[in-house]
Amino acid sequence: MALDSSGKQQQQRPRPPSSKTRDARLKLRRTPNEEHEPENYEDLPLDFSPALFSSLERYLPEKILNSTRIEKARFMSELLQSYSPATELNRIQRHREYRQRILSSYQRLHGDIYTLDPARFFVPSFLDAVSQPSEERFRSMIVPSAPGIYTFDMLQPRFCEMLLAEVEHMEKWVYDSRSTIMRPNTMNRFGVVLDDFGFESMLQKLVDDFISPISQFLFPEVCGTGLDSHHGFIVEYGKDRDTDLGFHVDDSEVSLNVCLGKQFSGGELYFRGVRCDHHVNSESVENENYDYSHVPGRAILHLGRHRHGAKATTSGHRVNLILWCRSSTFREMKSYQSDFSSWCGGCKVDRQNRMQASVKATMELLNRRTAEKTLVELSSTPPAD
Ligand SMILES: [Fe+2]
Ligand SMILES: [Zn+2]
Repeated sequence: MALDSSGKQQQQRPRPPSSKTRDARLKLRRTPNEEHEPENYEDLPLDFSPALFSSLERYLPEKILNSTRIEKARFMSELLQSYSPATELNRIQRHREYRQRILSSYQRLHGDIYTLDPARFFVPSFLDAVSQPSEERFRSMIVPSAPGIYTFDMLQPRFCEMLLAEVEHMEKWVYDSRSTIMRPNTMNRFGVVLDDFGFESMLQKLVDDFISPISQFLFPEVCGTGLDSHHGFIVEYGKDRDTDLGFHVDDSEVSLNVCLGKQFSGGELYFRGVRCDHHVNSESVENENYDYSHVPGRAILHLGRHRHGAKATTSGHRVNLILWCRSSTFREMKSYQSDFSSWCGGCKVDRQNRMQASVKATMELLNRRTAEKTLVELSSTPPAD
């Protein structure tokens, strides 16, 4: 479901699927219409990500492609729902009701942080680098801390304070209203999903205008076509919160992790190399091992498939903003591939081994042929007197 900047649910809504208005004879194109510029669906209350609609639009049959935006949204909604199993539709419905409950009764503490304001949110060095993006400016701002891991100063202390206060306010509302809260993922027992509380548009703008351009430059093999959706949430560690986080990969193409504060010790992130699904449990090599200590306001950016975990926060209270950024194009392409040697350490090793085996086999073949040729020459040479 999309929200407007005030957090209110918008009125215009494509007809529900039960009306079965979709002409089933109309099929999607096999290849996308690359010349077509997709529309933006963010202001419509849809059951699937607005970015998914924009991506799917290029596959629409000509008749639908030339119709109105609402007609296109309706066609795609019905198509997507016809492929969603009943349990998934139930989950979507429950989630929509959950968000509606929050929107109708949660009173924002700092309403002005729900709309992206780069000059107030970002430190000057970050703003400078991203306002006129260029390789030179990115390089001056970003520290390549380890292969595939980049850190940079990003958020102003005042913005961190306001977001921390807003999160406390959300938790107080959850407690006072005896609401149940959906946690960010299966591994974190504390924290909140910012998108559920009305931050979805603001965070997607942060992805579109800032994280996606940086990622296209830093991770072209994964984000060459940009990032078109996200999952944005807060995690909390310390006493009476989560302590540490087990070794895992994120459900993202690129993850942005920014420490908001407060006072704490411990909680370092440890990284152990990038892996595809097939190699996710393979050993890491020494130059893949890297530990990172959080600094409030400072961001760390890495591929979601970069295996990592968080060590115990041994004292104090640590709160981090995490943005899992996703690319529907990369996911679609990935489903047709089996070799990810452009970014997976395991696939790279397999490829090197295959190449070495091939070189060895070629050498053996050449040696055998040379030996056979020598034998033939020797046997055809008349014996010396
Ligand atoms: Fe993670
Ligand atoms: Zn692999």
